[in-house]
Amino acid sequence: MTEIKELSSKHILGIKDLNANDLKLIFETAKNFKEVINRPIKKVPSLRDVTIANLFFENSTRTRISFELAEKRLSADVVNFSAGSSSVKKGETLLDTVNNILSMKVDMVVMRHPAPGACAFLAKNIDANIVNAGDGTHEHPTQALLDAYSMMEIIPDLAGKNILIVGDIKHSRVALSNIFCLKKLGANVKVCGPPTLIPKFITSLGVSVEYDIRKALEWADIANVLRIQLERQDIKFIPSLREYAQYFGINKQLLDSLNKDITIMHPGPINRGVEISSDVADSDQSIILQQVENGVAVRMAVLYLLAAKRA
Ligand code: CP
Repeated sequence: MTEIKELSSKHILGIKDLNANDLKLIFETAKNFKEVINRPIKKVPSLRDVTIANLFFENSTRTRISFELAEKRLSADVVNFSAGSSSVKKGETLLDTVNNILSMKVDMVVMRHPAPGACAFLAKNIDANIVNAGDGTHEHPTQALLDAYSMMEIIPDLAGKNILIVGDIKHSRVALSNIFCLKKLGANVKVCGPPTLIPKFITSLGVSVEYDIRKALEWADIANVLRIQLERQDIKFIPSLREYAQYFGINKQLLDSLNKDITIMHPGPINRGVEISSDVADSDQSIILQQVENGVAVRMAVLYLLAAKRA
């Protein structure tokens, strides 16, 4: 069968839209870029004709810096936009904002927005390539790609492996993108958290549910631990963070009491002492900083492949 060396879409809106070939291509390309960014000269000229706008309508540390570094390592021209210091504050619409930026000859838009579907809306209305850097509770595709890439550095073939996602599944775009990605790679996926933070539809995605954190961890090869997204909760879904930590927090004592070693991941930002304790987050079992490191290579891969398709 002929291998397709091109992404199936001109946008990265969600993992749901990517096929097996897209994932393979992104991971292979990311591996090459990881070698590049570990060289003394970390830059390549691949995107020197490309201008990218990073539009952040929500706070970010990792994703924003990671995209900017990825773009600069690829020699793209980069402009950064924060909604908080822009004319959005004067009532300008999303489409007007983006069309004004695109009229300055911008080729690609990386956008984080609180509204689910905001990136898909842009993709329907503008000509530039769109990369979703997190849209509300919908998807965070590049986070799932870097998570899967990081898992595969430990377990190269995830097919049949047990991956646990712990925490606030209901409000997490990371959970949804991870589930879509891991299922496409053939992994078994289980979620664990308080019943109020696990949406009913989750089992329809081929995911199992466990409410006992010890049993869930005993099952898992890798556990991806998520933050409680208090900023997306207009009502109380858990009695208190202290109680959450007591029943679902991952600490060293709990991990030491298991009959196995498992790898611990977290997309960040971490609430130390709530979903994860410092003695786990900073331990050898944790690959949290490797995830962040891999984010640059994975985002370079995504941008490079989109530019290649554009060319
Ligand atoms: N993982 C993640 O999206 O982190 P930021 O919100 O800091 O970008």
